[in-house]
Amino acid sequence: MTDTRRVDADPAARNRSRPVPRLSFRENLAGMRAMRRDQLAFLQEAVRNHGDIFRIRLGGMPMVVITNPEHIHHVLVDKHANYDKENFLWRTVRAILREGLIGNRGDETWQRNRRLMQPTFNNASVARFAPNMTGLTADMIHRWAPEAASGQPVDVVGPLTDLALKIVLRSLFGVEPDERSHRFERDFLEVNRRLGDFLRFPFPPLSWRTPSRNRIRALTRELDGFVRYLIDTRQHENDGDHRDLFSLLRHAVDPVTGTGLTPEQLSNEILAMIVAGYETTSNSISWVYYQLARHPQVQQRVHDEVDTVLDGRVPTFDDLTRLPYTRMVIDETLRLFTPAWQTMRRAVTDDVIDGYLIPQGTEVLMNLFLLHRHPDFWPDPDRFDPDRFTPAAVAARPRHAYQPFGSGPRHCIGKHFARTELHLITVMLAQAFSVSLPEGAPPVGFAPLVTLHPAGGMRLRLHRR
Ligand code: HEM
Repeated sequence: MTDTRRVDADPAARNRSRPVPRLSFRENLAGMRAMRRDQLAFLQEAVRNHGDIFRIRLGGMPMVVITNPEHIHHVLVDKHANYDKENFLWRTVRAILREGLIGNRGDETWQRNRRLMQPTFNNASVARFAPNMTGLTADMIHRWAPEAASGQPVDVVGPLTDLALKIVLRSLFGVEPDERSHRFERDFLEVNRRLGDFLRFPFPPLSWRTPSRNRIRALTRELDGFVRYLIDTRQHENDGDHRDLFSLLRHAVDPVTGTGLTPEQLSNEILAMIVAGYETTSNSISWVYYQLARHPQVQQRVHDEVDTVLDGRVPTFDDLTRLPYTRMVIDETLRLFTPAWQTMRRAVTDDVIDGYLIPQGTEVLMNLFLLHRHPDFWPDPDRFDPDRFTPAAVAARPRHAYQPFGSGPRHCIGKHFARTELHLITVMLAQAFSVSLPEGAPPVGFAPLVTLHPAGGMRLRLHRR
């Protein structure tokens, strides 16, 4: 793993660069208003007017927005050591998730814990979680059967969120979901909404004692309470049968210091991993299902593939390579509805991106939603078309134009886990039901919270196959 802390300053950067173009006062003012209504449309308009790199005040905060694949690669990969998570977005996330892997600034604890957890997420380990994923999906399909028979539309977001959380809890932490995990889900959705609002309009500060900020604190205590319960449940167990992430973290010993995780670090890592592990995946699977409902021909191709390869049996991890079209549908959904739709870094020292000066301390917003709809790389970008992901089409495109899981040393540790889960669930849902939109249903919009959510639920009609 590369050291993210070593930074070579570039003293000549200022001499061989030009300033990043900035939005006018009037545009920034319009942006302030748009942030509350349609932040994504505003940013899309800004890219059309100013190109791939511009300076903006978002919610009053100055930052540089980049949407070009090479620029994003520069920050996340080539010069990753010069860009850390000490910035507005991640400080906000840290108010809840503290220094767990995802929010950590990139210090020694992050390095050690990432190295420690990596084996849990390699292909071989993820293959072991597959039966958990299919078993829990089968339970959900069983529960949906009466609704499918009644012909009533089902709001799929809640049950799919529940499923994704159960998969993470059982696979990584060996706990069975119950009423407490439902509460966790509800509380986190509210936190996500409130932090999403804050990111769009960061006033008053999170530290203030206003009713809305107190509510965030109360919800954080609830989330912590759930993690405490999880630790208490597992603490006194003999880990013999549980070779999972919990036992790994509990027994970890740093080879250099000889010490393990402190109780605080243990609880931070668990909270961060649960949240990172279910929120993004559940949104993605909802969007996949929605796209199948909207595109009957795509759905038919998925059904044909699944029926031919599996002939009605439950999929295994090894089957997934033989279900490429279903994977392409997932890839295209992750392009259009990329759940981790924005991320941010701060320049530790002066840098130059494509001739533009990025002074020390600049906060750089990388908008993966806009990257994935960049018209130079994605013709007719808003159209849903899984054939963009045939091997030939992928090979013809710059690699960095698609990165739903990020890139560089901080890329998503759960990428294989998420891909496997999405693939298995999509296959099993396709085996069980065909799905359609209720007549006259308005299109589902997206709510750009900390993650990209379907706004106002997603009601679909299920038909038993
Ligand atoms: C479709 C599902 C998912 C998407 C789109 C996604 C996306 C991402 C992205 C873009 C990042 C990088 C953020 C940055 O560089 O600032 C990230 C990091 C991370 N993800 Fe995921 N993720 C998904 C599922 C998961 C799952 C299932 C897990 C765990 C079970 C997980 C755990 C993490 C963690 C711990 C990090 C932080 C890694 C680090 O900083 O070292 N994610 N994810």
